[in-house]
Amino acid sequence: MTRIDPVRIGLIGAGRIGTHHATTLARRLGEAELVAVADPRAAAAERLGEELGVDWLTDPQVLLDDPRVEAVAITCASTAHADLVVAAAKAGKAVFVEKPMAMTLADADRAVSAARAAGIPLQVGFNRRFARDFAAAHDTVAAGGIGTPQLLRSVTRDPGLADPAGVPPWTIFTQTLIHDFDALNWFNAGATAVEVSVMADALVAPDFKDAGLLDTAVVTIRYDNGAIAVAEASFSAAYGYDVRAEVFGSAGMVTVGSPAHLSTAHWSAAGVAAPTARADTDLFTDAYAAELAAFCAAVRAGGPTQVGGEDARAALRIALACIEAVETGGTVTIRDADRVATGAGA
Ligand SMILES: NC(=O)c1ccc[n+]([C@@H]2O[C@H](COP(=O)([O-])OP(=O)(O)OC[C@H]3O[C@@H](n4cnc5c(N)ncnc54)[C@H](O)[C@@H]3O)[C@@H](O)[C@H]2O)c1
Repeated sequence: MTRIDPVRIGLIGAGRIGTHHATTLARRLGEAELVAVADPRAAAAERLGEELGVDWLTDPQVLLDDPRVEAVAITCASTAHADLVVAAAKAGKAVFVEKPMAMTLADADRAVSAARAAGIPLQVGFNRRFARDFAAAHDTVAAGGIGTPQLLRSVTRDPGLADPAGVPPWTIFTQTLIHDFDALNWFNAGATAVEVSVMADALVAPDFKDAGLLDTAVVTIRYDNGAIAVAEASFSAAYGYDVRAEVFGSAGMVTVGSPAHLSTAHWSAAGVAAPTARADTDLFTDAYAAELAAFCAAVRAGGPTQVGGEDARAALRIALACIEAVETGGTVTIRDADRVATGAGA
């Protein structure tokens, strides 16, 4: 493997996933050098900066203006992503941004256009694409191993709602199932989602349903190549964090994913017990490292990235159609105009 000159990265957003990514960048990846972390919550920035021995600050713009910083990892609250992608592009920094890249199609288009105008690599945090088992399944589908995809399924079971009061409305679509939508789009490459219907409810925290918190959802998607997909999510997996997928086609099927965190199993008179992943950062530790390593490689190569702004927009479009479907109680057709990012090409 060719060793690359480490990419000097500044990280914006020192919360849960920001802490995980910053630690990966600082301690695990030879391809990266973490230079600084920024978060308006001074205590969070300081804690992470001190722990990893890097500069910390509260103003992301100061980090963007730092000439040492070649690239940024935007890992803060989703509502701030699009503006920060635009600001980073204007500063000429390559961008890794967590999902969702934007909360509206207009913001997604703004982010894609800014990155394109600046000529910077833009990668979005759809980490499932970098999990070894998902990538192997994708290779099989792409090589024609299952023939023409007809039925696709993607499943996310999350371990729980620690604080339902703190969860914004529509989270299940814009934050959680958006991973499933991207995985389905990726497996069904070249096809576009044209129709969405949803059945969703608050089975875990019914008291919060009136506030817009849905915790259980099944989404059906029709693609323009005829394939039909189902994405489902629940926030009450008692056994841990569980992500699976299936692609069924004219010549066979691939299945991928297991909640077992390790291949270790305990065999006893009680049966067989396997440890399950408790969190995304358990199940996808290696995938998170692989996506950041791929980002560094893309930065050194001057782009392109393996999963970009157009992919983020396509998944967001499905999430927004789901919200519309719940609000209207019907099936939502994704119009032609919504399928192409304004001012964007590839
Ligand atoms: N890919 C994945 O599997 C995955 C997993 C978890 C979270 N995420 C995404 O990562 C993002 C962060 O999630 P989290 O769970 O770490 O949230 P979090 O609430 O733990 O942390 C968010 C942090 O962002 C900071 N912040 C808010 N506004 C900011 C701004 N304008 N500039 C800089 N920092 C700002 C907050 O102070 C906080 O420290 C979300 O978009 C989420 O969807 C992705």
